[in-house]
Amino acid sequence: MKRERKFNQLVLATKNSGKVKEFQKYFSSLNIKIVKIDDIVGDIKEPEETGKTFKENAKIKAIYYSKFTDKPVISEDSGLVIPYLNNYPGVYSSRIGKNDSERINKILEKLNGIEEDKRVAYFVSVLALAENGKIIKTFSGKVKGYIIKEPKGNNGFGYDPVFYYKPIRKTFAQISSEEKNKYSHRGRAIKKLIKFITNFS
Ligand code: IMP
Repeated sequence: MKRERKFNQLVLATKNSGKVKEFQKYFSSLNIKIVKIDDIVGDIKEPEETGKTFKENAKIKAIYYSKFTDKPVISEDSGLVIPYLNNYPGVYSSRIGKNDSERINKILEKLNGIEEDKRVAYFVSVLALAENGKIIKTFSGKVKGYIIKEPKGNNGFGYDPVFYYKPIRKTFAQISSEEKNKYSHRGRAIKKLIKFITNFS
């Protein structure tokens, strides 16, 4: 007998509209409804992201928000890691400037005059799935790119305009969110999550 689908609805614990858009693209075809945390709990205080790793922060957020609902909650922590800059900005990716262009300028300044092979960067995404304050599982995804000298493209969000993905010779801001999902850190982590939750179907 087929078990009842456990994960026909997921609460997404993020206020980042860029992330929400990418999640919705994925789940719309899977009959899994993505509900934003704000729509369930209103405007509650965000937890402090005190972790030293993406995984720790993803877990903090998933545990915190899943205490406000009986539905399974997915949180994400992600960011850009530049090995040449000692993995900067890492978990501070969203905090090194007031807005995306300030943050982009900050890393471009730090890489000013640095040659191409040292401009390697990774986007990392860690998803945490939790229910009633307990972590069920985490999933991670990573993608390698290069930080180009000037922003290119208007799609996506965050550091996408300077993240050049060699296999397609474009930045992540020059492609659609469907295409970005095929290669991105988030897309890779989401695929692992989907494999896990569809086994419960
Ligand atoms: P979080 O909301 O704490 O996970 O912050 C993640 C930050 O990392 C975002 O605000 C962006 O600056 C950056 N980031 C994460 N994923 C992406 C992406 O797919 N494209 C561009 N920037 C990203």
